Amino acid sequence: MPRSLACAARFGQQQGPGIVMVTVTVAGNCTGIIVAPLSLAPARGRCYRHRSAAMNPPDLAPAPPAPARRPALVFPRRDRLAADVRRSDSDQPLYVELAASVQRLIERDTLRPGYRVPSVRRMSLQRGVSISTVLQAYTLLENRGLLEARPQSGYYVRPRLLVSAPAPRMGRPMGRPAYVPGGDLIADLRQAALDPNFVPFAAACPHHSLFPTRKLGRLLGAAVRNDATLIGRYAMTAAYEPLAREIARRYLLAGAPLHHDELVITVGCTEAINLCLRAVTRPGDTVAIETPAYFGFLETIQSLNLKVLEIPTDPAEGICLDALRTALTQNDLKAVLVMPNFQNPLGSSMPDAKKEQLYRLLADARVPAIEDDIYGDLQFGDRRPKPLKAWDRDGLVMLCSSFGKTLAPGFRIGWTAPGRQLERVRHFKYTNTLGTAVVLQKVLADFLRDGGYDHHLRSIRRAYQGQMHLFAQAIRRHFPEGTRLSRPEGSMILWVELPAGVDTIRLHAEALRHRISIAPGPLFSVKDRYRNCLRMSCAIPWSAEIDAALKTVGDLARLQR
Ligand SMILES: Cc1ncc(COP(=O)(O)O)c(C=O)c1O
Repeated sequence: MPRSLACAARFGQQQGPGIVMVTVTVAGNCTGIIVAPLSLAPARGRCYRHRSAAMNPPDLAPAPPAPARRPALVFPRRDRLAADVRRSDSDQPLYVELAASVQRLIERDTLRPGYRVPSVRRMSLQRGVSISTVLQAYTLLENRGLLEARPQSGYYVRPRLLVSAPAPRMGRPMGRPAYVPGGDLIADLRQAALDPNFVPFAAACPHHSLFPTRKLGRLLGAAVRNDATLIGRYAMTAAYEPLAREIARRYLLAGAPLHHDELVITVGCTEAINLCLRAVTRPGDTVAIETPAYFGFLETIQSLNLKVLEIPTDPAEGICLDALRTALTQNDLKAVLVMPNFQNPLGSSMPDAKKEQLYRLLADARVPAIEDDIYGDLQFGDRRPKPLKAWDRDGLVMLCSSFGKTLAPGFRIGWTAPGRQLERVRHFKYTNTLGTAVVLQKVLADFLRDGGYDHHLRSIRRAYQGQMHLFAQAIRRHFPEGTRLSRPEGSMILWVELPAGVDTIRLHAEALRHRISIAPGPLFSVKDRYRNCLRMSCAIPWSAEIDAALKTVGDLARLQR
């Protein structure tokens, strides 16, 4: 027996010349949106009803139907977005409904962080709503922190890392400066990072597929063909000038005007930090660092026979200025080593006002800052955060960075703008390595000048952002209840605080047996802290294997409880 069906067609606003939108409901449910010729809509808002004895779609046109002058476009029922927009029983403004339907797609992960949502024009055409309705809807989502507008590019889904997982807690202050203890853990991690059979969660080494290696290779070939002296002559200048100019030009855009002569090109950021530390300390001196801190800093500090004082650092807003103020009054600090932008491992970002306060604090105490800005170009939003150097009026900030996370880790090209320590740093550079490979500096200068570096940066940022989001989701799925997670707005590193009782040194040893490497928390401190924490690198493209490896780590952690 055929069932009887109640059908209705509600005619809405005119959507364009001669076109009107019709919402079709069957048995009370919205089944679709029809864009129909205006001739079919004698009265806006009027509802036509039909009761059918058959399951076939009813004839919805009012009687007598005018012949359609053009075919109607039908958005099928499964197009939830379209159906949601025109629910006839809603009294919400249209833009609020459109925003709600886009929001649902974001929450269900159909539209992932970093994805571009349909352009305003396309959405307007597709959904049959006006441009201003779409703009209002996108602005509403922007205000809710779900979308971000990128100039001349469109609207993108903002990162929303584990909104439901609490942030990690801030470390405690440290009583007295201490030397960095030795250990084999880092050697183990490096070994595993080099072995392609290991899943490398420990090393913040981006996957080679993320870099324009072919283009760089072509530039390298051309450079050598055109000028054999690039490899046939010693490189004894502090910087290859065209590269220094390109780097300086980029800092100008980032709000930190530099003269290209102020730069020393180094072998990676590692050498830059090393030279700066040597310029302002002597063995036995104390430097302040954030806690937790990148273990590479601790190794360098150890190799220079320096002591460290760990300053508590907020996972969201960076180093705690009150604790630093106290430390400056109670200790003879020779430098403060900081990462105001996307700190490794916390991912924290200092607001500009806090950077300025930090600068003033250091300037008053006449203590230099060694700033590591290696992740500064890897923001997820559209504004590159300013380096601390932007506030430097007295040459107190020694800015260090490299292309290791953005372009070519294998080239090992980094730099420093060491302010008033320029001559000392130049001297140490000569005594350390004489110079840095000029041919590689030339390739990078060529790429920065006209190789599409900004385009590449946009795509690598999107890749890191998307990967980080997937890692965060998987950690939420697989790790024990109570796990806390950082929420960086750039870079590709997550700081994971597991429930108390989980020992990440043990977890590291157990994970290695499954050919997975993780960076246990105690590596990031000179005191035996952060036992239940680990740093997770999201620098490897997402795959089912990565998901399975994260599940293994989560299962191993659960077994410890
Ligand atoms: C914070 C930080 N600084 C410096 C480095 C080392 O940089 P580079 O490879 O340019 O020497 C790293 C690498 O992981 C890092 O995370």
